[in-house]
Amino acid sequence: MNEGFVAAFGRPPEAVAQAPGRVNLLGEHTDYNDGLVLPIALPQHTVVSLGRLSSGSDFTLRSDAFAGPLRFDVERLPDEPFGRYVFGCIREVLAAGHGVPPLDIHVASELPMGVGLSSSAALEVATLRALRALLALPIDDVRIAQMAQRAETDYAGVRCGIMDQMAASLADTGHALFLDARTLQTRLWALPAGAAVLVLDSGTPRSLVASGYNQRRSECEEACVRLGVASLRDVERIEDVEALAEPWRRRARHVVAENARVRRAVASSDAATLGELMNASHGSLRDDYEVSTPALDQLVSLLQAHRAVHGAKLTGAGFGGACVAVCVAERIGEVARDVLADYRRLGGRGRLLAPSPPPG
Ligand code: GLA
Repeated sequence: MNEGFVAAFGRPPEAVAQAPGRVNLLGEHTDYNDGLVLPIALPQHTVVSLGRLSSGSDFTLRSDAFAGPLRFDVERLPDEPFGRYVFGCIREVLAAGHGVPPLDIHVASELPMGVGLSSSAALEVATLRALRALLALPIDDVRIAQMAQRAETDYAGVRCGIMDQMAASLADTGHALFLDARTLQTRLWALPAGAAVLVLDSGTPRSLVASGYNQRRSECEEACVRLGVASLRDVERIEDVEALAEPWRRRARHVVAENARVRRAVASSDAATLGELMNASHGSLRDDYEVSTPALDQLVSLLQAHRAVHGAKLTGAGFGGACVAVCVAERIGEVARDVLADYRRLGGRGRLLAPSPPPG
């Protein structure tokens, strides 16, 4: 794990930490509405290695993901988006009252960027874990997720919820993390027996994700004002949103129904029920929340039509990127091959993102 740092800086690191990407099975666009989510960690990780410098005030960041070193100090936000996540984490540690010495930092990641697998949350959580290890910081995993979220909202400009950072900090690959974004209470939920998670990239870039995402958040805030509630989590009956004007009616209906779907999924341990709820979630994200794209709809339809798939949906913010399916575990390789071939015949260019390594 140390080779990248040694090659970049000519000495071994003093602290190394990693964090996984995530895929969300259910509960989309609910976290910033104080709602319920069900992400699961992916096998791919981001690894951050740190070493103290004896002098200066600078941070030097190197990664295989870009050519030259990135240099910054704590006063100036780096131009490069990648550097902003790391800068944001360092600022969060300083804001919590802990000193941070000048550092050499190396980042190595197996996670593809920009497809919706939360490579940024993995980078933030791995950075904070490495800082915690190096500086013996008294912060727990939930606090790490909160600091990571603020690094993203305050320094990278996306008003994200806390799901991705909580998943990177607390989830594992064998269980989904049932998270209540209002209380930050979590419970590990085992995947139904014999089921496995497949993640396919639609091959279309996530265009408009930042602007579309922030717009959806504002629409939810406006729906709350019109309903006279503090958050859409407080709407208990779906009928209560029906009197709203559009688009607030459909936005609120998605959020309220999606929370109910997560509750139903974790109350059962049945793959068919989970699959049905995932299919319904995709329909709601497409028609009510309007964050799907024609390519995502096509790939999801192909997945849903496969006999070894229990259910499928887009995952994450939407607007392009990846889809997730829950399949019969022993047929996961067949599903990936069949669906990617059909998608290609229809003109799409998809690829397998998980499991990783690919099934034989
Ligand atoms: C992105 C955000 C999350 C969440 C999802 C949608 O991944 O970072 O906080 O809102 O979109 O469910």
